[in-house]
Amino acid sequence: MGTNRRSFLKLSGLAGFGLITGCQQQGADSASKSTALDHIRAEAAKKYTSVFNMSGYAAPKIPTVRIGFIGVGNRGAAAVERVSRIEGVAINGICDVRPEKAAAAKERIKTPDHVAKIYAAGPDDWKKMCEQEEYDLIYIATHWKLHAEMAIYAMEHGKHVAMEIPAATTVADCWRLVQTSEKTKKHCVMLENCCYDYFELLTLNLARQGFFGDIVHCEGGYLHDILDSFFDETKRYDFWRLKENAARNGNLYPTHGLGPVCQILNVNRGNKMEYMSSMASRDFMLNKKAKEMAKTDPRFEEYVDKPFRGNMNISNILTNSGSTIMLQHDVSSPRPYSRIHMVSGTQAFAQKYPLPGKIAVGHDDFMPADELAKLEERYTPGIVKRIGQLAKEIGGHGGMDFMMDWRLIDCLRNGLPMDMDVYDAASWSVIGPLSEWSVANGSQPIEIPDFTCDNWKNNKVHDINLTAGGTTGVLKS
Ligand SMILES: NC(=O)c1ccc[n+]([C@@H]2O[C@H](COP(=O)([O-])OP(=O)(O)OC[C@H]3O[C@@H](n4cnc5c(N)ncnc54)[C@H](O)[C@@H]3O)[C@@H](O)[C@H]2O)c1
Repeated sequence: MGTNRRSFLKLSGLAGFGLITGCQQQGADSASKSTALDHIRAEAAKKYTSVFNMSGYAAPKIPTVRIGFIGVGNRGAAAVERVSRIEGVAINGICDVRPEKAAAAKERIKTPDHVAKIYAAGPDDWKKMCEQEEYDLIYIATHWKLHAEMAIYAMEHGKHVAMEIPAATTVADCWRLVQTSEKTKKHCVMLENCCYDYFELLTLNLARQGFFGDIVHCEGGYLHDILDSFFDETKRYDFWRLKENAARNGNLYPTHGLGPVCQILNVNRGNKMEYMSSMASRDFMLNKKAKEMAKTDPRFEEYVDKPFRGNMNISNILTNSGSTIMLQHDVSSPRPYSRIHMVSGTQAFAQKYPLPGKIAVGHDDFMPADELAKLEERYTPGIVKRIGQLAKEIGGHGGMDFMMDWRLIDCLRNGLPMDMDVYDAASWSVIGPLSEWSVANGSQPIEIPDFTCDNWKNNKVHDINLTAGGTTGVLKS
């Protein structure tokens, strides 16, 4: 245990809270002290044992990856189109509770010879898809609450899983994903596309090559004004995101900002997140908007005076290496889009937003464009050199979505470990419920579960230079 952590535990009295002792669920001492949202703290304090380490695990090669999609609204339908441009895939099924969405997604397939059987007979038809033999990978893009249940069912039926962010909304479901992936030896990949953005990948390679020196501090976030869309029925199925924001007060969408900086800090692979605390502003906008909408549309009356989340959430995390992370989440304030993506080391500094990405090696100013270009030329990782340009042409958030899908398929086809494994999915997603607990308890710190069960000490970082694989082609439309 590092000095930082020891002194933190002494100061915060976390040990007294029973958060760090024993291998099983917390002891009697902590059980007697109840807090708001106590079930979250209780779940976070449980200890588990690893039955198999999925980090670095290479499943048998699958030359043609047979895919079934579940949830093809805005995000899932775009994924169907992108994936159809990848060599060595067979889109065998498309499932959505809304038949017209499933049919529309099928229309977006850009290459011939995909069967794409439709499953749209009801809210449980996805189970039928998971039970069939003709799938290797289930690709899930439904709303958050269904991710874990669907992923677990798919793995239990022998399928690898790729799912949209976040992987789960409860601590218990994060553990269930880990345990199921370990038990079934099926990959459980959370599709954190921002880990494949170009500047994020450049800074990851710079960090690995020691350019920043030791990393002192990182920042990330999801600062995106999507308030109006919460009340727009064409944007999301059944107002699911409005419901989430009307019921939970925390960082509900942590992984866009957190994933890339966790990779830079080698979290789960040589480092781990120790504990966090979280603070929320009050709600200045969501309830006001609900009241305004309810005046003309009775469907929004049920949202008036719901416990909406505070508009800005700020969470601070300490890692075992002693580095800090600051995460922000605000989806309602009118301000320019930002994921921050800031890396501050003992020798250099990078920050992506406000765009363009900038790098500095001292306090004077950021590097001029020509110097930055030289750095890019030298440090752009192999995956970007191989697929970056094609990915930009095909698109999806400027190319990162396609790069992510292509890498997923290439790893499955070549029997390579996943870039983002189930421990990443669980530890990046768990910040959601943990932040809810901390906000509800006066920003008290809470320990972040070690989903690797100590394997983080020996797990290796993922390959960003395509030292193996890279053999999958891109098909013409
Ligand atoms: N990574 C990114 O950049 C990014 C961007 C947007 C959305 N997302 C994620 O993608 C997911 C979907 O978001 P969206 O904006 O496309 O929402 P959406 O509402 O448009 O899509 C969800 C789809 O799931 C379907 N669905 C609901 N219940 C179902 C069931 N029981 N069986 C089958 N289908 C069911 C709905 O009909 C809908 O078509 C979310 O997890 C979101 O966080 C990620």
